[in-house]
Amino acid sequence: DKGRIIFSGIQPTGIPHLGNYLGALSNWVQLQKEANVNDKLIFSIVGWHALTLPQNPNELSQSRWEMLATLLAIGIDPKRSVMFHQDDNQCHTELAWILNCITPVGKLRRMTTWKARLADSRNANSTSEIDESMLNAGLLIYPVLQAADILAYRATHVPVGEDQTQHLELSRDIAQSFNRTFVPGKKRFFPLPTQLSTPSKRVLSLRDPTSKMSKSSPDVQSRIILTDSASQISSKIRSAVTDSIKGISYDPVQRPGVSNLLTILAACLQKEPEEVASAYASKSTGELKSDVADAVEALFNGPRAEFERLRSEKAYLVQVAKDGAERAKELSEETMMSVRSMIGL
Ligand code: ADP
Ligand code: NA
Repeated sequence: DKGRIIFSGIQPTGIPHLGNYLGALSNWVQLQKEANVNDKLIFSIVGWHALTLPQNPNELSQSRWEMLATLLAIGIDPKRSVMFHQDDNQCHTELAWILNCITPVGKLRRMTTWKARLADSRNANSTSEIDESMLNAGLLIYPVLQAADILAYRATHVPVGEDQTQHLELSRDIAQSFNRTFVPGKKRFFPLPTQLSTPSKRVLSLRDPTSKMSKSSPDVQSRIILTDSASQISSKIRSAVTDSIKGISYDPVQRPGVSNLLTILAACLQKEPEEVASAYASKSTGELKSDVADAVEALFNGPRAEFERLRSEKAYLVQVAKDGAERAKELSEETMMSVRSMIGL
């Protein structure tokens, strides 16, 4: 049994929030726990992806180390998993360039993420014309960099949210196209990576439960971040938008705020929201909020303390990053030696 090669990445853009944790990071820890001894786990902090949006260089540099500290704090074990900064391994950009040259622009223009950026830009400039001139090329081609991130390790499994389905399809298309074009006998040099969908539901904004909890919202009350204290968690949950309907029920359409709190509590307790809802049917919103705050505090308490300890251990973080980059380079260099030779470089 050759085992799976599991790859995933996260951008170094600020302290992760509850949505990042429940929707992505906790799943990495779970995968690490459940992985077979033959499985390889590779987790990357993808700095090059962060550049597709304007970043403050000082903040980016700090976020890069904070994200590494976060991964360690939540339980990613550098002895078990390869954990590294994408920008420490040039194989990603080299392979991305090669893959760019076999990817039709039309395919990239059909990505819903690109279309959404285009629509945002049109609204911001109040023009109905299709105008790409304001958008940087990185926003169009970063799905190819994503394919390179995955294919550099010939990963077989990629744990990401549903919003990444189209990008993963593109990765498979690109892998197939490379195999067809360059691999002698059209053999499957690049495996077609399978999506491992994150089981947990989307966590919504505490202030506007019709949109997702996001680091980009200017309202800091709308999200709980890993460094929030118990009292900050409790005050944010207490001021979460709910409704005036009596009792508690899980109804994401009619009661998005209450349902979001149930989603959070259920994820913390590893239960289903409906199951949690029935236990709270005759309780008040206040009681629910108080239990949600306690559950989130119980979840974040350990990782927060570990994060605070690690963020000042710069020498240790540098060492972990260095070791991780070495192992990542070793794995991807093996792929790249074959790739270079197959394409004639
Ligand atoms: P943000 O949307 O806050 O900028 P990212 O886009 O960097 O966060 O997402 C990092 C990871 O966290 C992705 O895997 C994404 O699917 C997941 N994620 C982000 N926001 C949420 C949310 N509100 N609920 C669940 N998962 C989320
Ligand atoms: Na985002």
